[in-house]
Amino acid sequence: MHVRFRLGATIQCSGPLHNEAAAAIERTIDGANTVLFHKGVPRDVEPSEIGKIQSWEIQENVLCLEIESGAYTRAHDALFRFRKQIATALGKLRIGVRGIEITHFEILVPGDVPEDLIPRLPFIREVKRREGTVELSLNVSAADLENRIPDRIVRLIEEKVQARTYGGKAEHWELIYQSPSRSRTFEKDPTEVMLEKGWVKHGASRGQWIYGPQVVQLFRAFEKIVEQEIIRPLGFSEMIFPKLVPWEVCMRSGHAKGVYPEIYYVSTPKTRDPAYWEDIADYFKVTGHVWVEKIRERIDGPIGLMSYAQCPPFWPFVQGETLANDSLPLRVFDRSGTSHRYESGGIHGIERVDEFHRIEIVWLGTVDQTVAIASDLHTAYRHVFEDLLELEWRAAKVTPWFMAQEGMIGSCGCEAVGTTDYEAYLPYSNSWLEFQNVSVNGDKYPTGFNVKIQSGEECWSGCSGIGLERWTAAFLAQKGFDPAEWPEEVAKRTGELRSIFKFL
Ligand code: SER
Ligand code: ZN
Repeated sequence: MHVRFRLGATIQCSGPLHNEAAAAIERTIDGANTVLFHKGVPRDVEPSEIGKIQSWEIQENVLCLEIESGAYTRAHDALFRFRKQIATALGKLRIGVRGIEITHFEILVPGDVPEDLIPRLPFIREVKRREGTVELSLNVSAADLENRIPDRIVRLIEEKVQARTYGGKAEHWELIYQSPSRSRTFEKDPTEVMLEKGWVKHGASRGQWIYGPQVVQLFRAFEKIVEQEIIRPLGFSEMIFPKLVPWEVCMRSGHAKGVYPEIYYVSTPKTRDPAYWEDIADYFKVTGHVWVEKIRERIDGPIGLMSYAQCPPFWPFVQGETLANDSLPLRVFDRSGTSHRYESGGIHGIERVDEFHRIEIVWLGTVDQTVAIASDLHTAYRHVFEDLLELEWRAAKVTPWFMAQEGMIGSCGCEAVGTTDYEAYLPYSNSWLEFQNVSVNGDKYPTGFNVKIQSGEECWSGCSGIGLERWTAAFLAQKGFDPAEWPEEVAKRTGELRSIFKFL
């Protein structure tokens, strides 16, 4: 048995539905059940699967309908098809069709769908279980039906059931390259050492560090390497992407599907009238405490989040545009600020933090161009890690970041699309740290933000995130803290490390 839909609707008309009108209605319903609802349905489909007006009744100006269907010409689709046809039929008799009201709507989902996989949404009024079927009774308007809410609920349940079925499987991870091992001379946790040396201190906020000059010298040395070896030779231009990301962007990027437990939310004042805020300021002056509960009442939003994946807020720059052939492939990068993630208990050292710094590289073009740039990046990165940083590292094909951030697992099933993680060996914990990634994101972003190419060819994009904290953690964990021991290419770019703070 397949999913079934059942609805009751009333169609209000401008006049009483007597004699001629009743006859027209009967004819239209017969025609709908035998012809209209069968249009576009494959021949071999069981008739019970196709939408059908099961019964009808006239109450003065109102036509009451009961419609049922399986998966074909679903009850709500049948209703709207019928509305169009009945409007024409009654129009000939100078009777107008006014509104439609939905008196009830049920979805019957076969199988024992576990309780926790039934979404908790305001549209779902009641959930009943009988004879191996879950019956959802919905609270929906005609507009909700036009917006395909029932279909989306069914798809959502299917997705949740599927995710549960495959949930036991680990995230996709497939080794594609492993560097030669290097002599392991340093075995300490670099963050511990940095703390001892006074290179970093905990920031006042969760998972946040204040980086002293020495660490920033390393960050900047790595930036220079990225700039000289990757960004310039491969023709990337610097842009500045916003760091406050509104919901509109998340809706198009897909983050709206699942990022909620991990984000820093952003709110705005309801008004910027100082008088509105005066008591809150006075409260602090008198108590020495910030009146957080009151502030909560005085703010709007959240309007969005602090930058999370870094590339999504670039996309409104090209949204709705057609890209000239001769401008492609477009190659840009942003290093203008922080990304923020509300990490779980897993916060560790500078490797796993709530606030971090990343160079985000983004490119877009035809499929071939996009794939070719990813390949050029792999070559360039390999040279950097092998010859300049002299790291012990490996690369693995993993669940694409854009899927992972939507709460999905597995792979996307398309060979050319996906994320490669770069991981560095951490001797102190005998584990591997993901320190950057390269992804071909397929048509996801161009489609989400409606970007086209002049030639009409499919537009694809890619991105690569270079985590400065992670590079630093990997580098120090393997190379230690004596610049004399560091690879020349790094040491010459950091210069002499500056210790300017002296605490008594
Ligand atoms: N946007 C990608 C990510 O979040 C690359 O930085 O992983
Ligand atoms: Zn990205």
